[in-house]
Amino acid sequence: MLTIAKITVENLETGCVTDRPHPRISFALESDRPGAALRTAAITVGDWHTETAEQLHIPYAGPPLHPLTDYTVEIRATDDAGETAQAAAGFSTGRLGTPWTAKWITDGEYTFGREESPAPMTFRRRFTPRGRAKRAILHAAALGIYELTLNGEKVGTQYFAPGFTSYEHQIQYQSYDVTGQLRKSNELIAVVAGGWACGFFNYNRKNKISADKQALLLELRVFYEDGSDEILGTDTDWDVTTQGSYRFAEFYDGETYDATVDLAKAPFHPAAVTAPRGTPKLLADYGSPVRVRETLTPISCQKAASGEIIYDFGQNFAGVVCAQISGRHGQRITFRHAEVLVDGELFVKPLRTAKATATYLCRDGEQTYSPRLTYMGFRYAGVSGIDEADLTLSAYALASDIPEAGSFECSNAPVNRFVQNIRWGGLSNFVDIPTDCPQRDERQGWTGDIAVFASTACYHFDMSRFFDKWLLDMRAEQGRSGGIPMVVPRQGDRWPTMATSCWGDSCITVPWTEYLARGDAALLKAQYPAMKRFLKAAKFWSELLAVGKYRRIWRFPFHFGDWCAPEGGARDWIARGKWVGTAYFANSCAIMAEIASLLDETEDAAYYRRLRTEIIRSYRRVFTDGYGKLKDEFQTAYVLPLFFGMTDGAETAAMADNLARLVKEADNHLTTGFTGTPYLLFALSDNGHLREAYDLLLQDTCPSWLYEVRSGGTTIWERWDALRPDGTVNTAPLTKGKKDDGSGGMVSFNHYANGAAGDWLYRRVLGLEPASGGYRTFRVRPMPGGGLTWAKGSHLTPYGKISVDWRIENGAFTLALRVPVGSACELTLPNGETHSLRSGIHQYQSPV
Ligand code: BGC
Repeated sequence: MLTIAKITVENLETGCVTDRPHPRISFALESDRPGAALRTAAITVGDWHTETAEQLHIPYAGPPLHPLTDYTVEIRATDDAGETAQAAAGFSTGRLGTPWTAKWITDGEYTFGREESPAPMTFRRRFTPRGRAKRAILHAAALGIYELTLNGEKVGTQYFAPGFTSYEHQIQYQSYDVTGQLRKSNELIAVVAGGWACGFFNYNRKNKISADKQALLLELRVFYEDGSDEILGTDTDWDVTTQGSYRFAEFYDGETYDATVDLAKAPFHPAAVTAPRGTPKLLADYGSPVRVRETLTPISCQKAASGEIIYDFGQNFAGVVCAQISGRHGQRITFRHAEVLVDGELFVKPLRTAKATATYLCRDGEQTYSPRLTYMGFRYAGVSGIDEADLTLSAYALASDIPEAGSFECSNAPVNRFVQNIRWGGLSNFVDIPTDCPQRDERQGWTGDIAVFASTACYHFDMSRFFDKWLLDMRAEQGRSGGIPMVVPRQGDRWPTMATSCWGDSCITVPWTEYLARGDAALLKAQYPAMKRFLKAAKFWSELLAVGKYRRIWRFPFHFGDWCAPEGGARDWIARGKWVGTAYFANSCAIMAEIASLLDETEDAAYYRRLRTEIIRSYRRVFTDGYGKLKDEFQTAYVLPLFFGMTDGAETAAMADNLARLVKEADNHLTTGFTGTPYLLFALSDNGHLREAYDLLLQDTCPSWLYEVRSGGTTIWERWDALRPDGTVNTAPLTKGKKDDGSGGMVSFNHYANGAAGDWLYRRVLGLEPASGGYRTFRVRPMPGGGLTWAKGSHLTPYGKISVDWRIENGAFTLALRVPVGSACELTLPNGETHSLRSGIHQYQSPV
């Protein structure tokens, strides 16, 4: 039987509210008939009807959609044997440009300085609907982050609305159906904290980056049973105070909540009208809102010598504590947070200036407190001001609402823990934007970190909406000369917007990775001009002051190089910039040539292929002896040309042998930084050194992935020796020989970049990788080794679930594979046998 297993609109199965004039519709099919494939599908939305043979990202192309309207998508699919299936799904439109009658409002009397945190503003409006309401829709946006209650009940489940965007260009607004929450007389309360827009949120500790102070924009539209409607919008009829229950809130520093405050008695005064800087577009939430992902309970609780009660959640994560308290009026409870303990006490030095402290002032009796306007990266919470008996502590892991899409398990337990650490690394750093780390005074959209982690992320999660949102900001913030900010949103970054390798290449690598995972060519099309501008800038720099063979060696203006390599310090990593830059340049040209072909930009495709050839030639002539040996050897400088396909024939073999030799000389250890680590295992396994790749994977002395696991790590670390073998935390400056280089001893225990090796587990151990967008065609080619006796995993593609399960038993290799309807698989067994497969469940056995 053929069934429609899933319909999505704008990549959401339910709850889509969109301002896109042409929302994208996708659907997945299931069938118990092997080989079934779609012949045609009839899609109907209102008066619009289309026939298609495609399943993914079909844009609505009917008459203009009406604002604030519910629509139904009906699909009737017919497969190649004539079987049919039918299903329907809904979506709603947002304002679609409907002008706001509401005004942006703020506290006109309140001011705060450059050195101060903005006090949270509490806005209030009481109102009485004029009749019986049949529907009430609320739209809200803020400069800052807002929390909304209607008659004391929280509105929505999202944290940190309206989300983090490049506020100058676009601000999201959220839509809530509050029909069920309306009473005869009502009170709306909106607390707006500084958040990303005007709080201290930048590693230079700047505030007011996108707004001078907080502001709120809200419209409640009530539709009455008599057919009339009414809009209640923010204006000077609203009251505001900075003396509400939320006394303090900052992402880095935490939150203070005073439960003794009686809002009815708080000194409210009328709000003042204000305006955001520039003319940002207001768009219905198009990202993946932050919500509670998991609730964690402590695995232990101990009193430290300092008297603090220390709760261990057994897992490093981004989130907040949730405290059930038996308290007395005015009792002050403090919650501090840290990733590690030293001598049984919280070790907060790695947080640098971030205070990561929540303070709660109790009222009398039983009460619950959990911060709403901040989050921390932690495993341990230290509590003071309360007896253990009066407190039950749990915690909420917060993350963007990105659906889980992948799993991996094998016969090696530490590798499985590594996979969990990768997943937690992702979750902790997907908090509305892709961050570098969730704990210290940073948490910014560092482009290089996600450039290397994107592929692993796309295997674990459906990143479509998350990346769509972030890349829109990237496009908006690209520099005039083609550079990409080091962090997106740029957020007061003091670096000029320049073209730099890996970090800047993210404008090509991230959308390409997302395209391969989800198959939406519209994303590539939207990003294409930005990609071209970036490569133009890279080419300009590679030509500057360079002649002959040095033309195309990309040195200027700056590269992070082999960032965070275990060898040397920051200066040494940066000094490797020209190797890294040149290789990434060649890779981006290769990807661009593919994208250009896909988008029918044939001349561009040929141009980027030519440019790539020139870059490769320069790399070979300047850095190698021409036969696969580097003049200055280091692992990353072999890894990149090997993985990026920049070598030929005997040169490839020589480079791979040289890389294997370097690994051996390092006593079977890696010496790669952010830019080489993700590709190290591929460079070995794909070039005749599978054994060495497995040796590295399974290495568990420092530096290695499993060293982190063996040392009790539950996420991925920024520096390979964040916890040194002697048990001390590595807070040494990044620059060798300097006492203080201003880095504050960068030592995050939750930085996903090095977890990018997860990609190799899926692509080589399991053997699964996309061959075309959305896994329309994909390859399965397991490469067993390292003594593994089985591995299994799955990935939820837009066509449906692929699962791979192999084991080695009694001298035989067996494999079970599920191919979803609509996709096709090229299977290669370890003995070289190949099969072209259509949808269904397949089983194979071959001698080992
Ligand atoms: C961040 C990194 C980032 C880097 C740039 C750091 O402070 O934590 O992950 O990519 O700066 O070098």
